[in-house]
Amino acid sequence: MDTKAILPPRPLKSPRVLIAAAVGVLGVVTAVMVPTTPAGAAASTLGAAAAQSGRYFGTAISAGRLGDSQYTTIANREFNMVTAENEMKIDATEPNRGQFNFTNGDRVYNWAVQNGKRVRGHTLAWHGQQPGWMQSLSGSSLRQAMIDHINGVMGHYKGKIYAWDVVNEAYADSGGGRRDSNLQRTGNDWIEVAFRTARAADPNAKLCYNDYNIDNWTWAKTQGVYNMVRDFKQRGVPIDCVGLQSHFNSGSPYNSNYRTTISSFAALGVDVQITELDIQGASAQTYAAVVNDCLAVTRCAGITVWGVRDQDSWRSGDTPLLFSGGNKKPAYDAVLNALNAASPGPTPTPTPTPTPTPTPTPTPTPIPDGCAATITTTNSWQGGFQSTVTVQAGGAAISEWTVRWTWPDGQSISSLWNGQQSVSGSSVTVRNAAYNGSIAAGGSTTFGFTANGTAATPTATCTSP
Ligand code: G3I
Repeated sequence: MDTKAILPPRPLKSPRVLIAAAVGVLGVVTAVMVPTTPAGAAASTLGAAAAQSGRYFGTAISAGRLGDSQYTTIANREFNMVTAENEMKIDATEPNRGQFNFTNGDRVYNWAVQNGKRVRGHTLAWHGQQPGWMQSLSGSSLRQAMIDHINGVMGHYKGKIYAWDVVNEAYADSGGGRRDSNLQRTGNDWIEVAFRTARAADPNAKLCYNDYNIDNWTWAKTQGVYNMVRDFKQRGVPIDCVGLQSHFNSGSPYNSNYRTTISSFAALGVDVQITELDIQGASAQTYAAVVNDCLAVTRCAGITVWGVRDQDSWRSGDTPLLFSGGNKKPAYDAVLNALNAASPGPTPTPTPTPTPTPTPTPTPTPIPDGCAATITTTNSWQGGFQSTVTVQAGGAAISEWTVRWTWPDGQSISSLWNGQQSVSGSSVTVRNAAYNGSIAAGGSTTFGFTANGTAATPTATCTSP
C-alpha cells in the first residue's frame, strides 16, 4: 500500500455553476446543470474538474441511501454521472418473468436527472443477481427471456441513459475464455445477440461490455475480452464502449500497463469507461495514476467510483473510496489535482452510430388491412449475413402477426431476436414476441436475425388473424 505524502491541493477558486434548469420527474428532462470553470482556474469538484477535458466523474448511487443528507450532499456536489448500484439489475427490474418493476431504478434515475446528472445503466445480461425464475431457465427460453429483459428495461429508459452495461462479467477469471453460466450455455452468440437487441431497443445509448480484472494488459482475461471486442468491431456487432470496472486490491493490483489497456481498447474504435473504481486502502498515488491514465487517452470518456463514502462501499473494510464520513480523503485531493492538471483537451470523440450497409428503400405500396413484411440485409460477411425484417400494419391496428418466407439457397438462421421462429426445411415462420405483436394502424415494428449462407432477401408474406 502506498504511504507517500501528497502535496496539498492548489488553491481553488469558486466554480461558476450555470443552473440551466431543474428537471422534474422521469422523462421530462429539459436541461441540466452545466458546471463551468473559467479558463485557467482550478475546479473545486470532481465533476467540474473532469468536465474541463470533456469527461465525466461519476459514482454508484444506492436508492436506500437517498435519505441520508450527508451522502446526497456529497454526491450531488461532486459527481455528474450516476450508476444505480443495484437498482437496475435483473432481479430488481424483472422480479417475475414479464413483470417489470422500476420503482427503485426510477428513484435513482430521478434523483440523478433532477440534480443535473447523466445516468449509466447497469446491467442487462449477467450471470449474477438473476431472479430465481431466470436462474431456472436454460436454452432457447432463457435466450428469449434475456432478449425480452433487454427490451423491457431499455424500453422503459429509452433515450434517457448515456451508456448501458449491456453484458456484464462474461469472461472467466483465468484462461482468457468465457465464463460458464446459464447464459453462456444458450450458445456462444448470446453476447452479440444481447448487443444487437440493445441497439434496436435504444439506438441513442452507448452499449458497453463491462468486466473486472481486465485492467492489466498482460492478463489472459484482458486479452480474451480484447479479442471479443476486436471481433465484434470487425463483424459489425454494435458495441460502443468497454467498461473497466477497476476494483483494485492486493489480489488484483493496479499496474502501470493500465494505460496500455485503455489505449489498446480505444484503438479498436470503442470508448473506454472506468466504471466501478475503488482501490483497497485508497492510495492517493494510485488514484492519481488511474486518473492520469484515463486523461492520457482521448477515448477514455470518464470515471465512476463505486460508492461515495467508505461506509457505502461493498468492500467497506478496505476503505477504498474518496470520502470518509463527510471528509475528503487524501485520495480525493489527488484525484481533483490530477483532473485539474489536465490540459483542456478535446472532447472525447463521440462514438458514431454504425451505419448499416445501405440497402435500397423499398417502394412504399399501400397495405390493405392486415400486414406486410420486408426483409433487408443490414450486414454480410463470408458465409453469413444479418437482416432486419420490418413488419408494417395496414389500415387497421393488429395485435399479432406471422411472417413467412422460403430460403432460396439453403440459408439457415443462427440467431433471431424480437420474434419466435419455427423452421421446416427451407420454410421459415416467425411469430411476434410477447411484447411486439401490437402495431398501430400504419405503424411498424422490426425483428432481426443472423443467418448462415449467402445473403438473400426472399419475398416475405405477413398475416394477421
Ligand atoms: O437489500 C438486501 C437486504 O434487504 C438484505 O437484508 C441483505 C442481506 O444480505 O441483502 C441486501 O441486498 C444486498 C445488496 O447488495 C444491497 O446491499 C445483497 O445481499 C448483496 O449481494 C448486494 O451486493 C451487491 C453486489 O454487486 C451483488 O453482486 C453490491 O451492493 C454491489 O456493489 C455489487 O456491485 C458489483 C457490480 O454490480 C458488478 N461488478 C462488481 C461489483 C462489486 O461486487
